[in-house]
Amino acid sequence: MTKNIIKHDFVISKVHRNKANKHDSFVLWFTGLSGSGKSTIASAVEEQLFAMGMQTYSLDGDNIRHGISKDLGFSEEDRHENLRRIAEVSKLFVDAGLITLASFISPTIKDRAMVKEIVGAAHFFEVFVDTPLRVCETRDPKGLYKKARAGEIKNFTGIDAPYEPPLQPDIHLLTEEEALDTCVKKVITFVNQIRIQ
Ligand code: ADX
Repeated sequence: MTKNIIKHDFVISKVHRNKANKHDSFVLWFTGLSGSGKSTIASAVEEQLFAMGMQTYSLDGDNIRHGISKDLGFSEEDRHENLRRIAEVSKLFVDAGLITLASFISPTIKDRAMVKEIVGAAHFFEVFVDTPLRVCETRDPKGLYKKARAGEIKNFTGIDAPYEPPLQPDIHLLTEEEALDTCVKKVITFVNQIRIQ
């Protein structure tokens, strides 16, 4: 596919942009079940980072699947392709100097490893939004668990499709025990630590 295509190196790079922005750029990858609170937490984190003067951008499954991935469903292959595209987009955003907050179920260890590989391990941090299925299903903000239990949606993560929890997440958020602002503080503390390294 990439035969006869030669990369062009532009003069202005991530290094220049990071210097101008006065912060590094990287991906905070929020993984967890549907309804676990990934996008809610990511949005609150982004608000704080933005208020701190940082360049940010948020990506999430429900939005991306209306655009760049609107041709994809929820089979193993389609999720893989969805996440590959997001990884490539995230990589561009990191190069563009943005702290990128990506919220995707990303149910398999293998696919999250692929994302990390594409983005680059040095710029990828995994945030496990650890909300038990029982809680997600009780909340059911979009009514999707109910439909999945009724057999109206197939391959629903946690019901008839698997979710593999991260083994060593960079940040582990236990949303049942920790309030939203505690979760946000944990992420911000982590960001401040990696910024001073
Ligand atoms: S992923 O598995 O490819 O990472 P992604 O995060 O993009 O999933 O999209 C998940 C969102 O799509 C869920 O929050 C939910 O609103 C919706 N959705 C629709 N069908 C399914 C399904 N079968 N499994 C999981 N989520 C689904």
